[in-house]
Amino acid sequence: MSSFAGKVALVTGGASGIGAAVSRELGAKGACVVVTDINLDGAQGVVDEIIAAGGTAAALRQDIAVEADSKAAVEFAVATYGQLDLAVNNAGIGGGIAPIAQASTDDWRRTIDINLNGVFYGLRYQLEHMMTRGSGSVVNVSSILGTNGQANSAAYVSAKHAVVGLTKTAALEVSPHGIRVNAVGPGYINTPLLENAPQEMLDGLVGLHPAGRLGNAEEVAAIIVFLLSDEASFVTGSYHLVDGGYSAR
Ligand code: NAI
Repeated sequence: MSSFAGKVALVTGGASGIGAAVSRELGAKGACVVVTDINLDGAQGVVDEIIAAGGTAAALRQDIAVEADSKAAVEFAVATYGQLDLAVNNAGIGGGIAPIAQASTDDWRRTIDINLNGVFYGLRYQLEHMMTRGSGSVVNVSSILGTNGQANSAAYVSAKHAVVGLTKTAALEVSPHGIRVNAVGPGYINTPLLENAPQEMLDGLVGLHPAGRLGNAEEVAAIIVFLLSDEASFVTGSYHLVDGGYSAR
């Protein structure tokens, strides 16, 4: 795969799991990486790793549910490295686990605020900047639950479905400006996101993946980095599953 030398990337939720794996891979391939997270210490830890490995990176605290933070993140990338070429809207939460009939409205709002509105705020300012440059590539992290339902996770499933629609719409709007926008749909991946899932749910998850195991963050990062790269120059508006066969069943 071609190098990302000279490219500037922004990864939200880069302190942990999939976002950390994407940040490390982009750093290793020569991009200047802005690693953002609500957990600044965690983001700084990933930045330190990238720099120790010979790369270039900077950390920024960003709450993606706050629109002003998303604007500031793009401004930070431009002020620090001169431009923004690549963005990964990855930060997200698992949301509460409850049937709709017992669900908390506060949890619904919080999950939609982060997992859907947060992606919209990101795109809003990333695309505005990229359109001034006439190039760019963005990947939004949805989920297998961007096409499948799952009992007891209505807010998460709804947000992840919406991210797929948002991705397609964004791609249609910015394709004439030389910008690509894609989504990935990971199956269940071994990251801290699953820490709060009930044990009976975790026990059943492996069996849902024909691969016979959960995925790891690096396996998702590999697809995201490919979609960001020039090798994917004819790929836009698509939703790419990385799910060990989950959706083929
Ligand atoms: P993770 O919990 O390891 O990492 C998520 C990161 O997002 C954390 O560093 C967290 O601090 C950050 N974050 C949370 N709320 C934030 C906010 N409001 N603003 C900024 N940062 C915030 O989780 P993981 O698994 O790496 O998740 C990354 C993405 O992948 C999420 O969008 C998740 O929904 C998605 N995904 C994860 C799957 C899994 O099984 N782990 C499956 C399918 C999708």
